[in-house]
Formats: sequence, C-alpha cells, structure tokens
Amino acid sequence: MNSSVRKPRDHWHWFSILIHWLTVVVVLSLFGLGLWMVELTYYSEWYRAGPDLHKSIGVLLFILTLFRIIWIKLKGKPVPLTRDGSKEQMIARFTHIILYSLLLSVMLFGYLISTADGRAIEVFGLFQVPAIIFGIDKQEDIAGVIHLWLAIILIILVIFHAMAALKHHFIDKDLTLKRMLNL
Ligand code: HEM
Repeated sequence: MNSSVRKPRDHWHWFSILIHWLTVVVVLSLFGLGLWMVELTYYSEWYRAGPDLHKSIGVLLFILTLFRIIWIKLKGKPVPLTRDGSKEQMIARFTHIILYSLLLSVMLFGYLISTADGRAIEVFGLFQVPAIIFGIDKQEDIAGVIHLWLAIILIILVIFHAMAALKHHFIDKDLTLKRMLNL
C-alpha cells in the first residue's frame, strides 16, 4: 500500500466529516418523507412529487455512499481511540460495516420497487437510472416490505451508533465525537 495515499491520522478529513453529517440529515429526512408519502391520497399535491423527491434523493445518496466508501479507502481514516483488539473496537467496526451495507441495500431495494414496472428513475430531471427487468413475481410488493424493514433496522442501528458516540463523549470523555465534528 502506498503510504502517501492512505494515511491513518488522528483526525477526519473535512470532506469525510461533511459526507457523514450530510448522510445523517438525508437519511433521517428520507425516512420521514417515506413514512409520510405512503399515507398520501391521490388528491394530495404531493402524491407524485413526494415519491419523485424520495427516489431522486435516494439515488443521489446511493452514489454519494459509494463515493464515500472509495474516498475513505483512498484517504484513510483516523485510528480508533479504543484499545486495539478490544470488544468495543470490534463492535464499532462491525457496526460501521453494517451501517454502510444497510445504506446501500435500503437504496437497492428502493430501486427494485420503483423500477418493477419497467420504468426508469428520473433524478431531478437531470438523468435517468434505467430499469433492469428481473421478471420477479410481485417484485414491487416484496421489495417494498424489505425496503421498509431494512430502513427500520438502519434507524435502530443509527440510534445505537449515536448512543455509542455520546458514551464516548460523556462517559469515556475521549475525542471520538469531537473529531467527527472537527472540534
Ligand atoms: C443516518 C445516520 C448515521 C449514519 C448512516 C452514520 C454512519 C457512520 C459510519 C458508516 C461511520 C464510520 C465511518 C468509517 O469508519 O468509515 C460513522 C462514524 C461516526 N459517526 Fe456516524 N452515522 C450516523 C449518525 C451519527 C450520529 C447521529 C452521531 C453522533 C451523535 C454519529 C457519530 C459518529 C462518530 C463520532 C463517528 C466516528 C467514529 C470513529 O471515530 O471511529 N453518527 N458514522
């Protein structure tokens, strides 16, 4: 590995911090928007606009998440402040991998809902994500249930992850949270 490319440091790159907090805002907004829009009736002015917004932002977040993973691989990340090989460090690493996996899979199942009828996803009128026909019976319904449950599990894990960050800050009194805030 070329050490000039991947440098573990004691702080996060400002861009990694920006993507982290942008993801937080977007994920929570998409979750709220998703729950709200499925309750709308045909007569609401948001009946079509809500799902269009949800899909467009979801596609952009998917691209951002892929970019984020590549970015962190290239730029590296700070060494954890927990003891090497400790259970806490292993749980944190595992949680982060699951968070990335859930982020991507929630959006992949969203794609399978939206493209089940063969229509592409229009992203803010800027570009389209074409549909892939899998020919799965009841694809929209099955993908819909999985999408919802993965999103719920993601939110539960996010709460656990946020509580862990607060534990670092208030109980361990280390810099884990502060350095993710660039303080
Ligand atoms: C949608 C919500 C969130 C998602 C998807 C998310 C995701 C992630 C991921 C994947 C990492 C690991 C980055 C890496 O090592 O590659 C991370 C790190 C971190 N997150 Fe979050 N996060 C969320 C919300 C929060 C919240 C609300 C807090 C604080 C209260 C927080 C605090 C932190 C901190 C402090 C780190 C750095 C941990 C370390 O230095 O090892 N996150 N987050």
